[in-house]
Amino acid sequence: MDTERLKGKNILITGAARGMGAANAEAFAAQGANVCLGDLDGDEAQKVADAINAAGNGKAVAVRMDVTSRADNAAAVAATVEAFGSINVGLFNAGLNKPRFFMDIDEDNWDMIMNVNTKAMWLGMQEVARQMIAQGPQDKPYKLINVGSIASRKPLVDVTVYCTSKYGCLALTECGALGLAEHNITVNGYAPGVVVTPLWEQLDKDLVEIGFKERAGQAYDDIVENNLVIKRVSYPKDVVGTASFLASDDSDYMTGQMISIDGGWVTK
Ligand SMILES: NC(=O)c1ccc[n+]([C@@H]2O[C@H](COP(=O)([O-])OP(=O)(O)OC[C@H]3O[C@@H](n4cnc5c(N)ncnc54)[C@H](O)[C@@H]3O)[C@@H](O)[C@H]2O)c1
Repeated sequence: MDTERLKGKNILITGAARGMGAANAEAFAAQGANVCLGDLDGDEAQKVADAINAAGNGKAVAVRMDVTSRADNAAAVAATVEAFGSINVGLFNAGLNKPRFFMDIDEDNWDMIMNVNTKAMWLGMQEVARQMIAQGPQDKPYKLINVGSIASRKPLVDVTVYCTSKYGCLALTECGALGLAEHNITVNGYAPGVVVTPLWEQLDKDLVEIGFKERAGQAYDDIVENNLVIKRVSYPKDVVGTASFLASDDSDYMTGQMISIDGGWVTK
């Protein structure tokens, strides 16, 4: 690993208390970045930050935030700047899922998923970009990184709202790239498939509860068997390389792109 690849990058990561957000925070810091970990669970985010600081190299701070709040997004940006002096990268990773068949979707299910996965991404992008614009031009582009999903491109019968929210993340990536280019801000993202995290472990249970699957673990097995070219599910370590690339100078000439990391589930 190049322990200086992300040196000089000050990165705000939402949803960083666990799962892929925590894995990316650890990987970024190991490559020299300073990271601000924002999460609803401030205590767990602080534990991840403490472990990063104990490991050495990049520094970490944690902030409790609800990504659906504009004020919390602004406060998380301010905490990043207070700790590290500026912000050059925002990774919008916080997200959730709650499966429902189409006719069982209600307003609560719709609002919860759309607010966290899509509306909050827009709020976070805007608040981070506001700070980047205020900081003024820098040689290298500022970077926003959005976490999409296989569900950004593939309709799935059991998670209509999640798909709607994640198609929205793709639109925010493509439209954000157009809208922020004049400020030297690039917008890219990545789209995982099945990643073993607390989110998927809960989803696995919920799919049995709504009657889509008969037993725990069946969803994993069915997807590997029927959908994946690489015949295994993935883990947070499988996404950190792509996320690191998007945070690094190596992706400077890219914008408006969402890279699939899904074992070959979708091919465009
Ligand atoms: N796990 C997968 O298979 C998978 C696949 C594709 C995309 N994704 C996406 O990747 C991202 C990370 O997923 P994960 O699997 O690591 O999830 P996870 O549940 O392990 O972690 C998500 C984190 O987001 C935080 N969070 C949730 N709501 C929040 C809010 N309102 N404000 C602040 N923080 C909040 C949680 O506290 C948690 O720490 C999500 O956007 C998810 O949709 C996951």
